[in-house]
Amino acid sequence: MSTIAKPATGKLGVMVVGLGAVTTTFMTGVLMARKGLAKPVGSMTQYDIMRVGQGEDKKYLKYNEIVPLADLNDIVFGAWDVYPENAFESAVNAEVLKAKDILPVKEELEAIKPLKAAFDKNYAKRLEGNNVKDCKDRWDMVEQLREDIRNFKKETGVDRVVVLWAASTEVYVPIDKDVHYTLADLEAAMKADDKDRIAPSMCYAYAALSEGCPFIMGAPNTTVDIPAMWELAEKTKMPIAGKDFKTGQTLVKSGFAPIIGTRCLGLSGWFSTNILGNRDGLVLDEPANFRTKEVSKLSTLESILVPEHQPDLYGHGNDEDTQYFHKVRINYYPPRNDNKEGWDNIDIFGWMGYPMQIKINFLCRDSILAAPLCLDLVLLSDLAARADRYGTQRFLSFFLKSPMHDYTKDEVPVNHLFQQYVMLKNAIREMGGYEADETID
Ligand SMILES: NC(=O)c1ccc[n+]([C@@H]2O[C@H](COP(=O)([O-])OP(=O)(O)OC[C@H]3O[C@@H](n4cnc5c(N)ncnc54)[C@H](O)[C@@H]3O)[C@@H](O)[C@H]2O)c1
Repeated sequence: MSTIAKPATGKLGVMVVGLGAVTTTFMTGVLMARKGLAKPVGSMTQYDIMRVGQGEDKKYLKYNEIVPLADLNDIVFGAWDVYPENAFESAVNAEVLKAKDILPVKEELEAIKPLKAAFDKNYAKRLEGNNVKDCKDRWDMVEQLREDIRNFKKETGVDRVVVLWAASTEVYVPIDKDVHYTLADLEAAMKADDKDRIAPSMCYAYAALSEGCPFIMGAPNTTVDIPAMWELAEKTKMPIAGKDFKTGQTLVKSGFAPIIGTRCLGLSGWFSTNILGNRDGLVLDEPANFRTKEVSKLSTLESILVPEHQPDLYGHGNDEDTQYFHKVRINYYPPRNDNKEGWDNIDIFGWMGYPMQIKINFLCRDSILAAPLCLDLVLLSDLAARADRYGTQRFLSFFLKSPMHDYTKDEVPVNHLFQQYVMLKNAIREMGGYEADETID
């Protein structure tokens, strides 16, 4: 599995699905950083320094000194969206960034015009855009997307393309063994135009992998989190990563829960709620779309504080009296736009069962937290492809709220932030030709 990554020659195409708040913030930041007008704060690939080698041989290096990462100057952006506005108009509409941080790259952003989206209104009822492909069936949707990727490659002359989904969260598609378990069944369902079980996002993923592009799922959709897509990724030898960017409240959760777990404190309940008012919040206000997010957000805690492992500490609480209460709420509240406010109330207990409470109030900015993750996921997926790593990239769990894992083999996801960091660093070491290790720095 561990090959040293080949060099990053030529340009890297980054085709994003969804030209909304997150992706325009990502693009604007990359373009501004290229001109030396902004700093890519929060990006591990641009800032993190890690150790390679041990003992007398040890060195502390940045990622691009260990592995051949694509340079920011070599990125060429493309996009699909349901709305026709170009990246400049969309960045202005998103109201995440101030004019002074957008205007210096206005021309470059205006040149990023969204291709027609592969869209089905039943998957996001609150979106009204008309920049949408006319598709005969789901298979035709795939074919049209494949053509888009080929045209983009031809027109821009890029050497490689990564496809990143940062479009709206789709309604929850339960995993169905009849359709989602084998590639043959998935393809048959696409050809039979099975609209209920084949989400548009699956067509993007299928198209990307078939065209030799890594695919990243930044929303909580089950898209590539199904055995049929793992099979396609193996067949095409392409990396896949997902799902759901780990940005605000879940980042806090996966960093804070280990404090409770490592000190063997008890947990009787964790209530997370937040308000946000961007278009993402609007889509998530629809119960079927929220369900997708809820499933993703709930999984974090359960795999860090495991009731079966510590029944005295985590086996108290909810209706079935098997574990702590865990509730997650998202409330659409337009005045806050992209500036989300999250509250966490954590009911813990200590020595002899005495209760205590912890309150966390995070006044965050959704897209400001997500943009560096887009950059890191794109650069590291491209790197993984050049190191012949294909299928689910577990080392990218660090960036994801609900990391993919092989649930058909009872594999458990790693949600613990610091264990994820070890996995990330070891993958970088291996792709740079160093030994993986767990030595504490
Ligand atoms: N910002 C964060 O902190 C964060 C964290 C985790 C996940 N996410 C996810 O990232 C995604 C993007 O968030 P955002 O705030 O940029 O949302 P947004 O609403 O501003 O942008 C999403 C865009 O996707 C487009 N879209 C929807 N379906 C599409 C399709 N089938 N094809 C092409 N375009 C399509 C919409 O028209 C919209 O412009 C959401 O799914 C969100 O849940 C965001």
